[in-house]
Order: sequence, then structure tokens, then C-alpha cells
Amino acid sequence: MIISASTDYRKAAQRRIPPFLFHYADGGSYTEHTLRRNVEDLAGIALRQRVLKDMSSLSLETTLFGEKLAMPIALAPVGLAGMYARRGEVQAARAAASKGIPFTLSTVSVCPIDEVASAIDRPIWFQLYVLKDRGFMKHALEKAKAAGVKTLVFTVDMPVPGARYRDAHSGMSGKSGPIRRMAQAAMHPFWAWDVGIHGRPHDLGNVSDYRGNPTGLEDYIAWLGNNFDPAISWKDLEWIREFWDGPMIIKGILDPEDARDAVRFGADGIVVSNHGGRQLDGVMSSARALPAIADAVKGDLAILADSGIRSGLDVVRMIALGADTVLLGRAFIYALATRGEAGVAHLLELFEKEMRVAMTLTGAHSIADLGADSLVPDSLRG
Ligand code: FNR
Repeated sequence: MIISASTDYRKAAQRRIPPFLFHYADGGSYTEHTLRRNVEDLAGIALRQRVLKDMSSLSLETTLFGEKLAMPIALAPVGLAGMYARRGEVQAARAAASKGIPFTLSTVSVCPIDEVASAIDRPIWFQLYVLKDRGFMKHALEKAKAAGVKTLVFTVDMPVPGARYRDAHSGMSGKSGPIRRMAQAAMHPFWAWDVGIHGRPHDLGNVSDYRGNPTGLEDYIAWLGNNFDPAISWKDLEWIREFWDGPMIIKGILDPEDARDAVRFGADGIVVSNHGGRQLDGVMSSARALPAIADAVKGDLAILADSGIRSGLDVVRMIALGADTVLLGRAFIYALATRGEAGVAHLLELFEKEMRVAMTLTGAHSIADLGADSLVPDSLRG
């Protein structure tokens, strides 16, 4: 029985999938301090209860870059999401589309972009990393355009990968690599059957086009380390801006100064994010970073936020702190790993119900009604 969307799906996922895959999703960097703070800071924000406000009509709908969202949620880009269920990105995208929200395909997906884009009848979002090989980036953008993508999520908080010690312990990173792990994990009958490990050989849908790249997963972590570009600066983004005519969202902003730079650069949106505590451990939680960023740039571009969102109440908290829309990472991955498309759809239903209760009891009839007034003053301090 599901009593709390993310917590129960997390437990179920841990029972169901091989340990190296569970820890790859569940873990953060270094001592995982920021990962914990993301969740705890959000949970600690006190909502302001209001009553007797005739809450019989209530709308969760919102619009972002002209796109209608049934609720202010999109699924975050998650690398290797396709390992968590058979054709996992397709299943997650279908669930998102069925609930009227966008799905973001990661640069490092298992399913190729055309497969995912053609599986649903709303445009997917595409996430791109900054790679040393600009030719590959351009090629990926061309493919995204051809697949009907309008919204580009450009992730800038991974000039180098953060050290994820859990991956080293579980064998996700290091010499044995995911391919060896997968062979061992074929012992996990449900998972092995579900992802089709005996059928189709796994390759990386998007990066397998990369020049000189091995198509297998064996070198995944090494590939990230070798190809991410620490030299990246705002200047480098100019050519993408010229090339990409749709909305461009910069993901991985945690400081008001960087948010102002994103406005100056001409970004259409930012994602206030610490990559779910997977990059620099010790940085602020997103919930703590968000209010100052909203003060600095609210109204100048769209503010999205992620990291630590585990319930509909957390979505309401993030919006009240200044976000226009949020991204869900691990929450949907746990559900995908447990029950595929049906799991993700169910998770989103639970989020929607939780949001409705929270909005009813804070007296917010619409997403636009959520703001600082919906929170107990100073509930983020201390
Ligand atoms: C991620 N994230 C991520 N971000 C991105 O821009 N490109 C990517 O390929 C990935 N890959 C990835 C894999 C896994 C397993 C996780 C958990 C996360 C970060 C993701 O988009 C998002 O920022 C965080 O997941 C948000 O934090 P929560 O919701 O997981 O706490």
C-alpha cells in the first residue's frame, strides 16, 4: 500500500532493482550533506494554514513559454533513466504526457531522441551538457530540432563530475563498469526481464553518435569525465543561443549573481538546482537558494527549481518560495523502477492530490496565488 509517494516507491525500487542502479539514482556526492539538506530544508518550511475561503474551485494549471502544463511540474533530465524500466525514457514520457506535463530527455539517455519524441503527442524537452566536442553538441541540437523539440535545457553545473563515492562502492563507476554489473545483475530476475537485458544490447541513444565513442555502457563514467568541458563560460553559450530559436533554460543556478548573468545572457529560464546534491556537496539547498534568486530575477525570466522535491507539498513550497515550475528527479525514477509508466502516472496523481490539499488549506485558488503569503514568515531560517 502506498502511503507516501516518493518514500514508498523508493523502498520498492530498492527491493526491485540491482544495487548499483539503485545507488546511482539514490546517491549524492561526497558525504551527501547537500542531498539531505535539499529534502530536510524543504520539509521544514511551514505552510501558512488558512480556512473558510470557499476553496470549491481550484486550478493547478500553468503556462510556460506558451506551453500548457496541467500542473507546474516537468520531469527532470535523468541520465540512464532507460535502465530503470524497459525503454524507460519512453515509459516516463508517456506517463508525463498522460498527466499533461513535459518530459525532459537527458543527453545521456538510453532511448534515442526520435523514439521518445515520436512516442507522445506533445513536444519533449531536451537537455544538453556542455561537451568538449562542439560538433557533437551541434549534431545533438540538430537532431533535437528535427524531433520537434522546442525547449532546450542547458545544464551548466557539471564542468566536472562531482565525486560520488556510492557509485564507486557499488561498482557503477570504476573498472568493472556497468556492463559487468549488468551481467551480474541479470541474477535479478524481475529487473533483468523488465529492462530486456537478455534481448537488446544496451547502448546510449544520444551519445552513441558521438565520434569515437564506444557504444556500450562500459565507459559511461569515464566518458563523462573525459568529455565534459571545464573551460565553459557564458561566451561559449552564445553560439547555442544563435543556433537554438526555441526557449532556452539554464540548469544549475544557485546564486543570484549567476541568475542576473543568465538574464543578461538572454536566457528564457533558469533551473535553481544543485543537481540533486550530486555535484558540489556543501552548497546550499535549492530551497534556501531560491528566495534570493527570485528577489533578483523574478519576472525577468522563468524560474524553475529542483532538488529535494518528494511530494506535492514540496512543489507548493517551491512555488511559494518563488519558482514558476519545478522539476522532479529521483521521485519519478523510483516510481519508474518500481512500476514503469503506470508507476510514474500514479506518482503524478499523488503529487496532484497533495498539491490540491495544500492549496486548499493555504487558501490558494491558483498557482499564481502561491507566494510568500502562503508561508509562515521566516520559516526557512533556523
Ligand atoms: C540526474 N540529474 C541530471 N541532470 C541533468 O541535467 N542531466 C542528466 O543527465 C542528469 N542525470 C541524473 C541522473 C540521476 C540518476 C539523477 C538522480 C539526477 C539531475 C536532475 O536533473 C535533477 O536536477 C535532480 O535529480 C533533482 O533533484 P531530486 O529531485 O532528484 O532530489
